[in-house]
Amino acid sequence: MHEDCERVILTEEEIAGRVKEAAAWLDERFRGTTPVAVCNLKGSAMFFCDLVRAMQTDVELDFMAVSSYGNDTIAAGRPKIKKHLFSSVAGRDVILAEDIVDTGRTLVTLRNFFEERGAKSLTVVTLLDKPSRRKVNVSADFTCFTIEDAFIVGYGLDYAEKYRNLPYIAILKREIYEHD
Ligand code: IMP
Repeated sequence: MHEDCERVILTEEEIAGRVKEAAAWLDERFRGTTPVAVCNLKGSAMFFCDLVRAMQTDVELDFMAVSSYGNDTIAAGRPKIKKHLFSSVAGRDVILAEDIVDTGRTLVTLRNFFEERGAKSLTVVTLLDKPSRRKVNVSADFTCFTIEDAFIVGYGLDYAEKYRNLPYIAILKREIYEHD
């Protein structure tokens, strides 16, 4: 384990097993169609790649970025769209892969974004959910893991752009972010 981490909460194997279940759930739902799978960068990158590779359904891939954190552990203000999609999603079934639903503000912003752009449907699959931190009433359609209220890193999730490449998900030691 990385020395800046306190405890691993999800191992590589646990993540891989649950991501396969999410992919099977999506295959069941989208059999015979070609949805657009959207990755919300950067936190969802690892989850997205593993998820779409575990799916049998034909999917198109697209990417966007919404950010609210900066280099902090507490979301700062309203999430902003930092990078737009490459293609139109008007009339399309959209699968959105999220890393974590925390306050829920990012997800509300994204739901509005896809509605405004005329998506036919939106299915949100999140790797993690921290329901105890919710500030707005929103939820994903499929949640891989519900976790306690702690600041976590790894498997795409960062603190100040670090730790994204850890293959597991771990609680970051408080001293790492409280000293900044
Ligand atoms: P929300 O808008 O508060 O729901 O925040 C969602 C975004 O905050 C996620 O997409 C993550 O990028 C980031 N985030 C929330 N909790 C954590 C965490 O524990 N570690 C790292 N990033 C987090």
